[in-house]
Amino acid sequence: MWRTALPELVVRGAVLREPRVEDAPSLHALLTSRSVTRFTTPPVTLDGFEQFIAWSHAKRAAGQYYCFAVVPDGCDRAVGLIQIQVPAGRSPEWGFVLAPTYWGTGLFAACADAVLDFAFDDLGLPELGARLAATNGRGAAALRKLGAVPDPMPRATDGRPFDESYWTITPRDRARRVPRATSRLH
Ligand SMILES: CC(C)(COP(=O)(O)OP(=O)(O)OC[C@H]1O[C@@H](n2cnc3c(N)ncnc32)[C@H](O)[C@@H]1OP(=O)(O)O)[C@@H](O)C(=O)NCCC(=O)NCCS
Repeated sequence: MWRTALPELVVRGAVLREPRVEDAPSLHALLTSRSVTRFTTPPVTLDGFEQFIAWSHAKRAAGQYYCFAVVPDGCDRAVGLIQIQVPAGRSPEWGFVLAPTYWGTGLFAACADAVLDFAFDDLGLPELGARLAATNGRGAAALRKLGAVPDPMPRATDGRPFDESYWTITPRDRARRVPRATSRLH
């Protein structure tokens, strides 16, 4: 299922749909600032974004990857991405990035809710993990508000903590989600 195309997910303030090659310029313009790249490893060139979008379609066709572009209402360009990876033999994970102008608006929570519904209800995944840089306090707080919980990370052999944190979320965890404010969207 979903091997030929992804559904459109409609949320308050935005639509999530499969990224298109036409999204590459806006994604390149919006997701390559230092505030974003310090916590993610997006492509750095326009060509890189175009290749990433083509790669995401091929991986979706193989049933291993589901990438949604976030397109706010009144906008015809993508301003962020939420992706789910289902690698063979490994736990499914998700990742997300939004253009900084949309941080703190409630857009992420609305879109994340819709993607979690898709992951649990449509894909039937039991759990999603997320890897964050240990210094990514904002990403961690955003996950905690959705109900995600930090997984204790094993320590390196010299006793130092790893520089990543790992967060898991299950359908049951979502009962803990912090209710969203309703009027913060642009
Ligand atoms: C992660 C991301 C999508 C979250 O979207 P967002 O709109 O910023 O998230 P929210 O505003 O809903 O939640 C962030 C929370 O962190 C809090 N916060 C901000 N900076 C913080 C910090 N340094 N430490 C702890 N909490 C912090 C905010 O106050 C907010 O909580 P509040 O709503 O109770 O005030 C977005 O910040 C982003 O694209 N970041 C860069 C990419 C990234 O880090 N991706 C995660 C790795 S996969």
